[in-house]
Amino acid sequence: MLVSAKEMLQKAREGKYAVGQFNINNLEWTKAVLLTAEEMKSPVILGVSEGAGKYMTGFGTVAAMVKAMIQELNITVPVALHLDHGTYDGCYKCIKAGFSSIMFDGSHYPIAENVEKTTELVHVAHKLGLSIEAEVGSIGGEEDGVVGMGECADPNECKMIADLGVDMLAAGIGNIHGKYPANWPGLSFETLAAVNEKVGEMPLVLHGGTGIPEDMIKKAISLGVAKINVNTECQLSFAAATREYIEAGKDQQGKGYDPRKLLAPGFEAIKATVREKIELFGSANKA
Ligand code: 13P
Repeated sequence: MLVSAKEMLQKAREGKYAVGQFNINNLEWTKAVLLTAEEMKSPVILGVSEGAGKYMTGFGTVAAMVKAMIQELNITVPVALHLDHGTYDGCYKCIKAGFSSIMFDGSHYPIAENVEKTTELVHVAHKLGLSIEAEVGSIGGEEDGVVGMGECADPNECKMIADLGVDMLAAGIGNIHGKYPANWPGLSFETLAAVNEKVGEMPLVLHGGTGIPEDMIKKAISLGVAKINVNTECQLSFAAATREYIEAGKDQQGKGYDPRKLLAPGFEAIKATVREKIELFGSANKA
């Protein structure tokens, strides 16, 4: 069932668990995430960055694939199709393509411009029944060309953006896209607690979910995080399993080169990673 992310995130925030946003790259990724969520009876969010959307030939292709797959696979759990780190133009493209949720990342604009553009997009998204995420502060590192310095969010600015009526808010709290460096100081729970206090019941979003230790994930959930984004970890699992298959020479045995065989270990590896995260985030059996 393709739905907006609003209700699933409000329930998660109330129930003190988080819904995973798993970024998708192609058919295997999408199928792996949808099947695992269904098996675990968990709500799920499919994240699509602008780069991944382009790679899959456009947001229209992505929306059509996801909708058809939900039907063909008999997926009954709530699924949101969400634009990740969207530009202003990207948000409109996804609204037109039939996404059920968007993120407008105005974090690199001066706060007044972030407020102005977010206000407009909240209005448009809500009129059409989509949910919308906004960002304050920035997520460190790089994801599909989106680069952030990782500065912690100002809680007052978070309140300003939350008051615009967004459905979920990403606040930079020292989190980073991609692998965490060995000298990473950890999440700033001081910032998260201050943001949480300012924004009331707003579901908070933790980007950069790859490699955050379990105790920090649990603490973040206890402080209002209701959505956790995971991208790199599925890529690493997929790559490792594919490497193992090829290095074992399995692509040379029989018809091991058949893409349905060649991509199968990576597909299973994504499923295992998604399963592990759904368990950790506590969203199993919450559909
Ligand atoms: P990771 O790639 O670090 O898991 O981050 C994902 C993310 O935050 C998507 O926006």
